[in-house]
Amino acid sequence: MSKAEAKESKSTLEKTSVAEIGSPYDILGCGPRIKRLTTWEPERWGQSRDALSAAGLPPSSGESKRFHTWEDLSSGILSQAYYAAKDMARGNLTRGHFLVLAGPTGVGKTHLAMAIAWEWFDDGFNVLFSRADDLLDWLRQGYDDNTYHKRFESIRRRSLLVLDDLGTEQAKDWAGEKLDRIVDWYYVNCLPLVVTTNAKSEELAERVASRLADKSCSVVVQIDTEDYRTHAVAG
Ligand SMILES: Nc1ncnc2c1ncn2[C@@H]1O[C@H](COP(=O)(O)OP(=O)(O)OP(=O)(O)O)[C@@H](O)[C@H]1O
Ligand SMILES: [Mg+2]
Repeated sequence: MSKAEAKESKSTLEKTSVAEIGSPYDILGCGPRIKRLTTWEPERWGQSRDALSAAGLPPSSGESKRFHTWEDLSSGILSQAYYAAKDMARGNLTRGHFLVLAGPTGVGKTHLAMAIAWEWFDDGFNVLFSRADDLLDWLRQGYDDNTYHKRFESIRRRSLLVLDDLGTEQAKDWAGEKLDRIVDWYYVNCLPLVVTTNAKSEELAERVASRLADKSCSVVVQIDTEDYRTHAVAG
């Protein structure tokens, strides 16, 4: 390639690159599909311990629950789950802004959900990882100290919300009604949401299940495989 051609191809590249100036994606040239839904937040780099706790991520999981510690890609469904989670972690939401990891116990749903949350957190985004029931308990405590609305807003303001272990809370219960509102907020605003659950779709509250199964915006991976906990011990 001549120098002139090289210069021309460089300037074409510069024109087509739409990564925000100064962001790591600009430097790495990873392109526009990465986490474009939220504003670049350079001030969030160098996350503090407070930020970690606000994100709900257990510090011990920072080493262990990662994509590089995911071992088994032998079965089709495990690699499907892994790559769907990878897409979400990179902010590649072209297949949908919802990811639902469903299946029996010990198949790695929480592991992948945490790995996603960690990548967003490391990239400086305002993520929240929480078990669904813990989140609802925390929200309910807001009635005691008059911070309910503040807490509710803080759940809705996240760049990425990860609801681990979504249960069978029904719409008529307090918990079910709140979950409905939270999921609906992420649904109507096309915001990224990751859900893990042991429950079958028909066991979930109908309105929540319907949104989570919406093929136009949700990737659902049903991980029907062996329990890694017992399988790993057995070798
Ligand atoms: N493919 C895998 N590679 C490496 N570790 C794995 C894999 N699958 C599961 N694990 C590990 O096995 C343990 C159980 O996984 P995890 O907690 O993610 O399961 P789960 O599907 O969320 O189960 P539950 O429904 O009981 O919450 C974790 O320590 C996790 O790190
Ligand atoms: Mg789990």
